[in-house]
Amino acid sequence: MGNIAIIMAAGEGKRMRSALPKVMHRVGGRPMIDCVIDAAAGTTDEKPVVVVGNCREQVISYLGDRAHIAVQEQQKGTGHAVMMAMDYLEQTDGYAIVLAGDMPLLQPETIAQLLRETEERQYDATILTSIVQNPSGYGRVVRLSDYTVSTIVEERDADECTKDIKEINSSVYCFDAKLLIDCLGKLSNHNQQGEYYLTDVISMMVAMGKRVGAMTVSEEESMGVNNRIQLAEAESALRMRTACRLMDAGVSIIDPMNTYIDSRAEIGCDTIIYPGVIIEGACNVGSGCLIYSGTRLSKSNVGDGCTIDHSVLVQVEVGDNANIGPFAYLRPGTKLHNNCKVGDFVEIKNASIGDGTKIPHLTYVGDATVGMNVNIGCGTAFANYDGKNKYHTNVGDNCFIGCNNVLVSPVELHDGAYTAAGSTITGDVPAGSLAVARAEQRIKEGWAEKRRQEGKLK
Ligand code: UD1
Ligand code: CA
Repeated sequence: MGNIAIIMAAGEGKRMRSALPKVMHRVGGRPMIDCVIDAAAGTTDEKPVVVVGNCREQVISYLGDRAHIAVQEQQKGTGHAVMMAMDYLEQTDGYAIVLAGDMPLLQPETIAQLLRETEERQYDATILTSIVQNPSGYGRVVRLSDYTVSTIVEERDADECTKDIKEINSSVYCFDAKLLIDCLGKLSNHNQQGEYYLTDVISMMVAMGKRVGAMTVSEEESMGVNNRIQLAEAESALRMRTACRLMDAGVSIIDPMNTYIDSRAEIGCDTIIYPGVIIEGACNVGSGCLIYSGTRLSKSNVGDGCTIDHSVLVQVEVGDNANIGPFAYLRPGTKLHNNCKVGDFVEIKNASIGDGTKIPHLTYVGDATVGMNVNIGCGTAFANYDGKNKYHTNVGDNCFIGCNNVLVSPVELHDGAYTAAGSTITGDVPAGSLAVARAEQRIKEGWAEKRRQEGKLK
């Protein structure tokens, strides 16, 4: 087979102090491993090989069939991690792109360019490096007087002079696969940490007279996340990158650093997003929308021209020109067609709401199909649950539900039906008729005066 991508993700991530494997920590809404898989995807037709170890069940079940899995039982270093992918390396007649799983800011164009440069310049190996302000913690790239790469020295093995070098190894490489196999076989663990360093392969290749190149990327892209502080740094860098992409596409983001938009989100032009908005998952938001503060959209799609204020939408589909909130809670399975209004303190779950329907305030709609141009009065509850089973309610087109109704499902209101305020609807309502289901009003004349005389009222 042609090229192969190998992603090292077996490390414990000790410095994260977490029960979650490091590569499963999210940046921009996605586990770091996803970002790395995407970055490498363009360089090979084959699925990437992910080397897993610590807490591997979580990583394996998350990846499903998107990757080949190689297991590294004991974490004996990055060189050892790559050895675990030997079966796949041996089937490769092209290049092996090796990446660390903790680099959420890597971009596909960069990895494509790394491969291209390796091919064009006929290098046997190319390392992705970066010139950084503070290189501490990273392996330093040592170059010879003619500027060719000589070796990579890990921080812990570096003398003071080497520590001053600002060019660091990002932990992304493109190797001739056959040559890599050859060098992995010769690695030793004679270093400060007693590990098999993948970085030692570089000096080995130089000693063999092979051509080793380096390609430099921005400090941001080369960043490796080892602790929660770096996780927050990566998060804010990716947040800015996503905001810039969206602003370039015509979205107004009032305060980009205080707006939390998943890197996969798509938003149309002339939509305005206020501070404190959270958009999670690959949401689609149309153009000309106003999304006010305190709104959380999760795995939801919103059409054009909608206004949403201080509301939570989870797995919801919204058509065009909706007016939602403040303080609406739309739960999974809600579908609003076009021109709907869902006002304050309204909760909707697993329900389809037809064009032009209004649910202005204080209402619960669950397990229902509501037609077009319906008005649901304040304080209405769809009683969909009897403590064991859930039932469905149908409300036809052009119905009018009075205030403070309880619709005890299963029940059906046919087209154009009305219900009186305060009704408890337990049976179907025929088309065009009015259901009154409340106690008739009685008048006791002079009641208050009589009571007062009896001394029972003030
Ligand atoms: C590594 C590099 C260093 C580079 C830095 C960039 C080595 C020896 N050092 O150091 O030159 O500047 O990355 O961020 O390669 N892993 C395994 N199995 C292991 C050890 C690590 O799969 O036995 C994985 C980790 O899960 C991680 C990646 O390899 O995704 C890098 O390991 P990490 O411990 O973060 O290496 P650094 O010390 O950062
Ligand atoms: Ca690292």
